[in-house]
Amino acid sequence: MTKLEKIYEGKAKTLYTTEDPDLLIQYFKDDATALDGKKKGVIHEKGKINNRISSRLFRYLEKNGIKTHFVDMPDEREMVVKKMTIFPIEVVVRNIVAGSLAKRMGMEEGAPLKETILELYYKSDPLGDPMINESHVMAFGLAKKDELTQIENTALRINRILSKFFDERGIILVDFKLEFGLHKGEILLGDEITPDGCRLWDKETLEKMDKDRFRRDLGNVEEAYKMILQKVMEHGN
Ligand code: TMP
Ligand code: ASP
Repeated sequence: MTKLEKIYEGKAKTLYTTEDPDLLIQYFKDDATALDGKKKGVIHEKGKINNRISSRLFRYLEKNGIKTHFVDMPDEREMVVKKMTIFPIEVVVRNIVAGSLAKRMGMEEGAPLKETILELYYKSDPLGDPMINESHVMAFGLAKKDELTQIENTALRINRILSKFFDERGIILVDFKLEFGLHKGEILLGDEITPDGCRLWDKETLEKMDKDRFRRDLGNVEEAYKMILQKVMEHGN
């Protein structure tokens, strides 16, 4: 499978068409941004690390009954994925208070939650991904009611599967962002699951092992990503 035409360039990945009209190649770059793109940088080897982490997690989710866009990882920076129409919605799942939730609620990072929180954001770079709710999704036609229900239920199932997966490897899945799309009428999990879009804390030390190291200039960013790669590869399968 070869990359033919570039159809989309995002902050961390580029999408290319292939010989197969149903498949795209998602190419993982080393570029990193934060603060709505105002902070820019490069995390050495991030593309390769994130491709491997994401491929491993998509395969694991598929084995656990979650449908994803993942098809194959033919190259260290390339993932073959099913072509989808992405819902312009970012789904954030939170198990512990951190990041923008800590700010919004005036709470300490690390505070426990009585229940898992599910948030929706309108996927729009120029607007800085504003938070929305179900009625915005309906009113603006971002997804149909049954589609949104399925997306939300799947996001919570993914949370249960991955929280256990990371817990078994000594890591707390604090929060994460997911994107979904439609491929031949079927809703699939898209994008990536990597330390770029998840908060992952060491269970013992509570050390941050994710993109917050880049956002907050904590140092050892590449080392943290490599540690997560090593952990997700543990126990084969
Ligand atoms: P937040 O606390 O900044 O709202 O982020 C919540 C989670 O979602 C965190 O794991 C990072 C992820 N995220 C993204 O992947 N992309 C984004 O644009 C934002 C705002 C958050
Ligand atoms: N990637 C987003 C940005 O460029 C948000 C983030 O991950 O902090 O701002």
